[in-house]
Amino acid sequence: MGRIYLKVSVVYFSIGVLLGLTMGIIHDFRLTSVHAHLNLLGWVSMALFGLIYHFYPSAANTQIAKLQFWLHNIGVPVMMTAIGIQIWTGEATLVSVAVIGSILVVIGVLLFALNLFKQVDS
Ligand code: HEM
Repeated sequence: MGRIYLKVSVVYFSIGVLLGLTMGIIHDFRLTSVHAHLNLLGWVSMALFGLIYHFYPSAANTQIAKLQFWLHNIGVPVMMTAIGIQIWTGEATLVSVAVIGSILVVIGVLLFALNLFKQVDS
């Protein structure tokens, strides 16, 4: 679980910085929120999930951890794609798709918190 999170996180990092670089070169900052969330939910959060699961393997080997992995890795691309296309096209219905993606991510984060409270000794 730790290794897969770290590998996925560097894919998001690459996409995030490439988008940032592109925005800077073409001087079009409309996708700043997509860039920021790709970096923060994709790179920073997933790298932290990966490191935490590496140091706490008991937390990594649970059904909740697997479920959270999929909620995060379905929710983030759905949310990012919907927000990005919505900004480009102005298509208002995509806001609800972004909200669905965001809800998946939030449920996953709450499960992650529950998992850590249950599995990591204080
Ligand atoms: C070489 C790498 C990067 C480049 C070229 C880059 C480029 C940019 C650009 C052009 C903007 C828009 C600035 C504006 O609206 O005036 C921006 C905003 C932002 N970036 Fe990056 N970025 C990079 C890496 C990162 C990373 C690693 C993170 C987070 C971990 C990050 C988080 C943010 C945030 C939160 C904003 C929004 C700031 C605001 O609106 O006040 N960026 N970035």
